[in-house]
Amino acid sequence: MSTSDVLGKGRTALVTGASRGIGPLIARQIASQGGHVVLTGRSAADLKAVTADLAAAGGDASFIPADLTQPGAAKTLAETVERQHGGIDLLVNNAGGDPLREFHAMTIEENLRTLQLNLIAPLELSHAALDGMLGRGRGHIVNISAMAGRVSFPYTEVYAAAKDGLIGFTRVLRSDYRAQGVSASVLILGAIRGAGQGQRMLDESGMKASGFMAPAESVARAVLKAVTKDRAELIVMPGPGRLLRAVMDYFPALGPALNRAVGATTTMQKIIKLREAEKDPAA
Ligand SMILES: NC(=O)c1ccc[n+]([C@@H]2O[C@H](COP(=O)([O-])OP(=O)(O)OC[C@H]3O[C@@H](n4cnc5c(N)ncnc54)[C@H](OP(=O)(O)O)[C@@H]3O)[C@@H](O)[C@H]2O)c1
Repeated sequence: MSTSDVLGKGRTALVTGASRGIGPLIARQIASQGGHVVLTGRSAADLKAVTADLAAAGGDASFIPADLTQPGAAKTLAETVERQHGGIDLLVNNAGGDPLREFHAMTIEENLRTLQLNLIAPLELSHAALDGMLGRGRGHIVNISAMAGRVSFPYTEVYAAAKDGLIGFTRVLRSDYRAQGVSASVLILGAIRGAGQGQRMLDESGMKASGFMAPAESVARAVLKAVTKDRAELIVMPGPGRLLRAVMDYFPALGPALNRAVGATTTMQKIIKLREAEKDPAA
């Protein structure tokens, strides 16, 4: 059984979070294989610009704006792509992010929005796409997760819960449907430079990218590898990521100690203060 026939001519991919950050690079990588790519995100203006860039590079792309935190939005999005393009062959659940504020300082509604964007929306989109994939006997779902939970990255309680949840979801989804031609892969990202939330944090704090950060293009390449080689799980970070993850699981106190040692906790506190001051210049 092969699931790599979800790419190329006559196939359709849906990429979430494609308006900015790492998403446009993922969309470009998929478009380079031929086939149609549907981009989504909230900002129609950004999606239009990315779609135009892809077209200029010879790609075949369109966009549908959607806010995945709104009830029913994921289902409506999947149905629209099915109707307009005859199905979703590859779904990349890339949209995500974290407000990076203290858990207790956010309302429970703010916390639940983080869960909705990073875990519930990918689950809803996968659910909505699955019937069509099973009917055609082909499909691949790639979920973008993070190392945040494994390394106890400061102030990411709900984000970490969502991203770890995505790993478990992908593992069982893959196991249950692969024999019917529908596979699933999860990418576990360390800190990423060049585009996205990690780069924005560097820009805000005036820090330089460290050797621990992987280039954003490597995420896009990993999405393609996950599909063409049908990988269960890929870790995107420099060095022995799989080993680091195992060590962190074995010694749960190591993550917080490392965060303190490399100054991650202090940096995050600085960024929280900077963002608060931007919202309230009198603060
Ligand atoms: N960058 C890193 O260092 C890093 C590390 C680990 C994991 N990750 C993961 O990698 C993925 C991409 O991250 P990134 O760094 O590229 O983030 P980013 O630059 O903040 O981009 C996030 C994307 O998600 C979309 N999005 C945000 N809220 C949305 C909503 N309510 N409904 C629909 N779309 C929404 C944004 O588009 P709009 O604003 O137009 O809606 C944007 O396209 C995320 O899942 C993130 O958790 C990133």
